[in-house]
Amino acid sequence: MASRVFVTREIPGTGLQMIGQHFDVSVWPHERPPTSEEIVSAAQGCEGLVTLLSDNIDSGVIDALPRLRAISQYAVGYDNIDVEYATKRGIIVTNTPGVLTETTADLAWALLLAASRRVVEADRYVRAGEWRVAWGPTLLLGRDVYGATLGIVGMGRIGFAVGRRATGFNMRVLYTSRSDTKITRRAENELGAKRVDLDTLLRESDFVSLHVPLTPRTRHLIGKRELGLMKPTAVLVNTSRGAVVDERELARALSERRIRAAGLDVFEREPIPLDSPLLGLDNVVIVPHIGSASVETRSKMAQICAENLIAALSGQRPKYAVNPEVFER
Ligand code: DGY
Repeated sequence: MASRVFVTREIPGTGLQMIGQHFDVSVWPHERPPTSEEIVSAAQGCEGLVTLLSDNIDSGVIDALPRLRAISQYAVGYDNIDVEYATKRGIIVTNTPGVLTETTADLAWALLLAASRRVVEADRYVRAGEWRVAWGPTLLLGRDVYGATLGIVGMGRIGFAVGRRATGFNMRVLYTSRSDTKITRRAENELGAKRVDLDTLLRESDFVSLHVPLTPRTRHLIGKRELGLMKPTAVLVNTSRGAVVDERELARALSERRIRAAGLDVFEREPIPLDSPLLGLDNVVIVPHIGSASVETRSKMAQICAENLIAALSGQRPKYAVNPEVFER
């Protein structure tokens, strides 16, 4: 009998079809994410789960699914899954790195440019019928991106792709990284990037772009003290995870113009609550967690997600296991 698999939301491309060719699949039929209780109830008897970053897969959910052998996350980030607990239970967890690197870097740049040149604010201005004078010498002035300093917090794949785009803007690139890797060496050799500590990066950068995973160490990495180190003309861009920034402190810094602007794709709570102070600010560009949202990338993610699951449930090592130690046992 084929293994049973529960998919917590419809995913695009051929991924679902691929999974369906190997397993007995059921898919959560709604647009809203299932609650933990709904996942447990819908996934009873399942050996595989396909999850999204909005699904909370904690030890309670894992314990309530005794047949579970593999969790295939449809994302590169997996902070919504208790990987340590899954590992203890011998459950393989996989993700979809690599394919979304360039797409996410594009969005970081879209936010950087939009926030710096006030593109969204200008669009709102025109639509509101406020454009009454043909050309104004001081109308909607932004700041130059070309030739400025870009600070990349976390020089992994996406950080590097963001830095590579900066060479076309003749920018000086600073970065932080906890370790020496092939990517950090490439950043230094190919982009002329300079490694500094976080405080130096915050003090010297005109644009700060965040590219670290959310872990206990990076939660609120950018808080009141860090925002206080940034230039009053600086722009913060976040396409990583919302909780890397203390959002309340960010809203204060923006409303008091202690930093100039922000471009945000991710939030501490998603969807962002409608009473969030960020929504009332003109100097923030806000998009709804669409870093990887291109037709091409989302369908590649679905394919990798399916390949990971098929391999894991067939007893093979998936290409992108986040806890490969499960196989070492
Ligand atoms: C991821 O894959 O972690 C991204 O946040 C999705 O856009």
